[in-house]
Amino acid sequence: MRSTADLIAAEDAHTSGLYTKRAIVLVRGEGATVFDSDGRAYIDCVGGQGTANLGHGNAAVAEAIAQQARTLASSTELFYNDRRAELYDVLAGILPAALDRFFLCNSGTEAVEGALKFARASTKRTGIVATMRGFHGKTMGALSATWGPEYRDLFGPLVPGFSHVPFNKPEALDAAITPETAAFIFELVQGEGGVRPATREFAHEAARLCAERGALLIVDEVQTGFG
Ligand SMILES: Cc1ncc(COP(=O)(O)O)c(C=O)c1O
Repeated sequence: MRSTADLIAAEDAHTSGLYTKRAIVLVRGEGATVFDSDGRAYIDCVGGQGTANLGHGNAAVAEAIAQQARTLASSTELFYNDRRAELYDVLAGILPAALDRFFLCNSGTEAVEGALKFARASTKRTGIVATMRGFHGKTMGALSATWGPEYRDLFGPLVPGFSHVPFNKPEALDAAITPETAAFIFELVQGEGGVRPATREFAHEAARLCAERGALLIVDEVQTGFG
């Protein structure tokens, strides 16, 4: 195998530079343990940022992926598909009865982007209210809902119609959610914002005002849900 220094140099030569990396080359994992190119073990507190919630090297997950890859590599929604039908049934069985329609996509950002578009299309309104310290992704719509100037500042002007209210201040919601609001979007536990749980009062007041004023409530569970 190539040396650690060689692997780091190879990545450094071609990376976009978007992320600041630790000087560790991860090469494999078992459950919640990952190993570097020098054989050192680490407890994985990153979990693929939510994408490896079932652990590394999970035999059942690996076998299911391999079996499907051997059977049918891809099936877009231009056609029906046996496994998608099965997945819909499983999701509908887990979720509250009212949540019975699903938009399958490739990333958290795309889920948020889809939710924002569904909200605008279904309400015929343009306003989106989000929270300070909220993080919803980096495409232009999701970024417009994201609060941090470190993510936004290089890319303006962003999508119009977005505003941000203080997180966990229910009294700020009344003025922000108006008859022009298509949706209020928030995280039940802010992830990038510092692992800050929403209070029951804040979540309930948001839901109440959205219902009262005909806006949709988007709960971004990219971190707290399925990952
Ligand atoms: C709450 C939340 N929403 C959306 C995203 C974007 O997800 P992805 O990185 O899969 O595009 C993230 C990513 O960390 C997130 O934490």
